[in-house]
Amino acid sequence: MCGIVGYAGNKSVESVLMVGLACLEYRGYDSAGIAVIDHDELEIRKEKGKIKALEALLREKPVRGNVGVGHTRWATHGEPSQINAHPHTNEKQTIAIVHNGIIENYMQLKMKLQSLGYIFLSNTDTEVISHLLSMELSAKKTVKEAFLSLFKTIQGKWAIAAVFEREPDKVYFAQDGAPLLIGKGKREYFLASDLSALVRNSTEVCYIKPKQWGYFSKEELVLFDFDGNDVVPEMKKQEAKWEDVDKGGFPHYMIKEIYEQAGIFRKIIDRRIKENGELDFSEMGLSKEILSKVNRIVIQAAGTSLHSGMIGKHYLEQFTKIQTDTEMSSEFRYRNPVVEGDTLIIAISQSGETADTLASIHEAKAKFLKVLSMVNNVNSTIARESDAFIDTCAGMEIGVASTKAFTAQVLHLLLFAMYFSTIKWMMSDELRKELIDEIKQLPTKIEYILNKAPEIEKWAQDFINTKDFVFLGRTYNHPIALEGALKLKEISYIHASGYAGGEFKHGPIALITSEVPVVCIANKSEIYPKMISNIQEIKARSGKIISIVTEGDVEAKSLSDYCFEVPACHEFLSPILNVIPLQLLSYYVAIARGCTPDQPRNLAKSVTVE
Ligand code: G6P
Repeated sequence: MCGIVGYAGNKSVESVLMVGLACLEYRGYDSAGIAVIDHDELEIRKEKGKIKALEALLREKPVRGNVGVGHTRWATHGEPSQINAHPHTNEKQTIAIVHNGIIENYMQLKMKLQSLGYIFLSNTDTEVISHLLSMELSAKKTVKEAFLSLFKTIQGKWAIAAVFEREPDKVYFAQDGAPLLIGKGKREYFLASDLSALVRNSTEVCYIKPKQWGYFSKEELVLFDFDGNDVVPEMKKQEAKWEDVDKGGFPHYMIKEIYEQAGIFRKIIDRRIKENGELDFSEMGLSKEILSKVNRIVIQAAGTSLHSGMIGKHYLEQFTKIQTDTEMSSEFRYRNPVVEGDTLIIAISQSGETADTLASIHEAKAKFLKVLSMVNNVNSTIARESDAFIDTCAGMEIGVASTKAFTAQVLHLLLFAMYFSTIKWMMSDELRKELIDEIKQLPTKIEYILNKAPEIEKWAQDFINTKDFVFLGRTYNHPIALEGALKLKEISYIHASGYAGGEFKHGPIALITSEVPVVCIANKSEIYPKMISNIQEIKARSGKIISIVTEGDVEAKSLSDYCFEVPACHEFLSPILNVIPLQLLSYYVAIARGCTPDQPRNLAKSVTVE
């Protein structure tokens, strides 16, 4: 949420910053801007709208120089506008700040600064930082002293980068709760909110930790803590490849990532399932002894990750017989939950940076609970702050609507529940063997579904003007109904709700008219007859049925207006196969309606504010 970049080196800072911003645009796209030191003077260019608007401005008014910072915004304080776009500056225009996160006490600080005569131009919380630094510097403090004083004054979760006219060769930075990385190239340093912007140029990276700050020039990186003590930067080899951040010939990241799912499953199977059928979670670092003492599990997550957690609850309860609850992170952290010392908290997060999920981890740790996180970004704050983590191995996900990270989470929850069951001796060898065999077939079955994507692409045209959608599923596929509805809402802006099939008659059925398509997830399983009853009830009220069924199905198919067949599989695995046609449906409906799937309205991928 908001992307920040910085650079000091020998290249044209304008092009380096613009390439970096393009990589981070999925973090926000309300406005964008850069600040550079051009012949020892600060130059700022910023514009409302996507990065293309800033590019157009730079064509008219280019900037030169080799040091600067940039920002792409997801508005928190103040509407998207040119004035509220970052960078923000002081009155003399000698300091420029870019910021991600929220300064919670900004109103108090703003009033105090205004009473001292400082004039604010924007409605942002960020602008207090440039005035505070300016105030400290005009009191004859050094830049270091000004920063140390700033850290004592501002509250919240944030990351900043700044340039100062008085130190034209340096980029300053700091973080307290929002991600920030420094990349090293050849006599040059880069700064970014996440790795995707550093892949092209950096051979090594340093993850800045909370309450660390410093500066870099093209020659050196200097790091301190918030008490002013020196910190030795921990440089790691940068291992991501350009293909990880490239669209690879697809028109959008979202569809590229949907298509990557079969390959990712092959990698996960290779990494997690040993030849003898044992499961490998060696990176986890949570001993079998600790797991054997767990008597309750609480899974906490947000958005799509919450939906995978809801499926995980079924797996964990089935295979370990341990009571498992699923909670929205944003609720868990504020409701003082009743949890005992033998409760294991599982936090699920693609980005590893979601503020609510992180805050819930802090809440759990304050109650002395063990926290295991499942993250796709193993260098994230959530991974670092958990007692143990599992890498969900989906590779960098850039599309704002999560797809491949979701199915990788579900597979990991299944495998983890199976691993856990060996500690509790709860699963029969036959079932374990059957599941492992079926899991190994998943990549081929996913490919089979993807080969039939044109069927769904064709349907999409029929829903261009649809106003409401309903999704129904039961047990393992209730979360898939929720996920299908979420995908459609976020990408195509069609109102959609997901319900448990059994609950549908208790109110939501009132929504049904011939104008409302109902997606019914009706694979062959114990609850198939119940889904058939749902379909019948909807048909009786002239609803339009889109069904997701097991290959070879006759009954549900004969009652449906649209029907997509997925290969037969064990019921436990059905959510993984069923979600793929729903991902495709949301993507193709969005395209048919002229929406931009990688940059959905009002959304951002990594939600680092609460
Ligand atoms: C945002 C994204 C969703 C994501 C959710 C949780 O809302 O748009 O796609 O599921 O955050 O993110 P996390 O990174 O914690 O999984």
